[in-house]
Amino acid sequence: MAVLKNDTLLRALRREPTPYPPIWLMRQAGRYLPEYNVTRSRAGSFMALATTPALAAEVTLQPLARYPLDAAILFSDILTIPDAMGLGLTFAEGEGPRFTRTTADETSICALVVPDMAKLRYVFDAVFEIKRALAQSVPLIGFAGSPFTLACYMIEGGGSTDFAIVRRMAHARPDLLQRIVDVNTEAVALYLGEQIDAGVDAVMIFDTWGGMLAADKWRRFSLAPMRSVLKRLSGTARAHVPSIVFTKGGGAWLDDLAESGADCVGVDWTVDIGAARRQIGSRVAVQGNLDPMVLLTDPDTIANAADAVIQAAGPLPGHIFNLGHGIVPSTPPENVAALVAAVHRHSDAPSRQSIAS
Ligand code: CP3
Repeated sequence: MAVLKNDTLLRALRREPTPYPPIWLMRQAGRYLPEYNVTRSRAGSFMALATTPALAAEVTLQPLARYPLDAAILFSDILTIPDAMGLGLTFAEGEGPRFTRTTADETSICALVVPDMAKLRYVFDAVFEIKRALAQSVPLIGFAGSPFTLACYMIEGGGSTDFAIVRRMAHARPDLLQRIVDVNTEAVALYLGEQIDAGVDAVMIFDTWGGMLAADKWRRFSLAPMRSVLKRLSGTARAHVPSIVFTKGGGAWLDDLAESGADCVGVDWTVDIGAARRQIGSRVAVQGNLDPMVLLTDPDTIANAADAVIQAAGPLPGHIFNLGHGIVPSTPPENVAALVAAVHRHSDAPSRQSIAS
């Protein structure tokens, strides 16, 4: 395996010392960047962007050309899997995802099958292109949605404020929800395995909606499937690739997450990261957790808020700096520069440059 020039993320994931907390940001490629919006309109649609490896690679690298981030994240979406299952994914401009078909009734749920990974070839091709373009500068993070979070969108047909249909199903028809989650578990394990084979250096599971479940339902329908995905990856030659699990709203379940089999637990901004680190100890690394809205303020406020997160997280190895959730589209790009600089000021290493310079 070729050696990365900046492997601070991988070292932090292994709880080894790093000169500063490595930083990357959820949704670091996206609509807050003018160059993203240019490429997206050139592509015509979000799906055209995501399914064209050269464009997905271009967009992945955009934030790295601006900021000296310590990792790249594959530009794609968690909903590529249900799209490959035939649900018909579209993203209307300014709106969230929509599926043309839902899987909310017994017939459609029983008909669900694990998609052929050949349908997701564009994702693995993008990984390959991105790795080549990164030229071993920083690691590339691959990702998938958690089996439960994918089920949320498949059942509701899109986003929702309360995911009432899903939560009702967890109580009224647990057998049906279990069936969807089981199919998704198999699909997510295969999908992450293929991303690893294509070259990603770490993987992250986004359990964006797990936090809205009752604790026992979350353990059954979200934690157990994530454990099973991670277990399947660990039993193969892919075991060397570290993993991050992020249950948004999962602050009450840190012990479960620390025992999930992942190398790192992501926490949202509602969590006291110092308390989380004390609770988790040296079991796994912790990623987070600046409130993304801090990026809507000014450089001084941002630097102070970043310092507060780093102080709270403490000096022990194994803290990866991130937001508590994705960057919002109204974020001024120069504020992201201020954040990255503030985190890197904690460095005892010589100043580093962005890959574009
Ligand atoms: O830079 C990165 O973080 C990598 C790219 C990435 C995207 N989606 C691109 C994207 C990643 C990691 C995701 C994951 C994703 N997608 C999640 C889990 C993370 C989270 O935010 O909780 C979820 C729930 C989705 C589903 C999804 N995709 C929604 C709800 C939306 C619409 C809302 C929004 O933020 O626009 C998307 C679309 C999407 N995925 C965009 C981007 C850059 C914006 C689409 C556009 O350009 O029109």
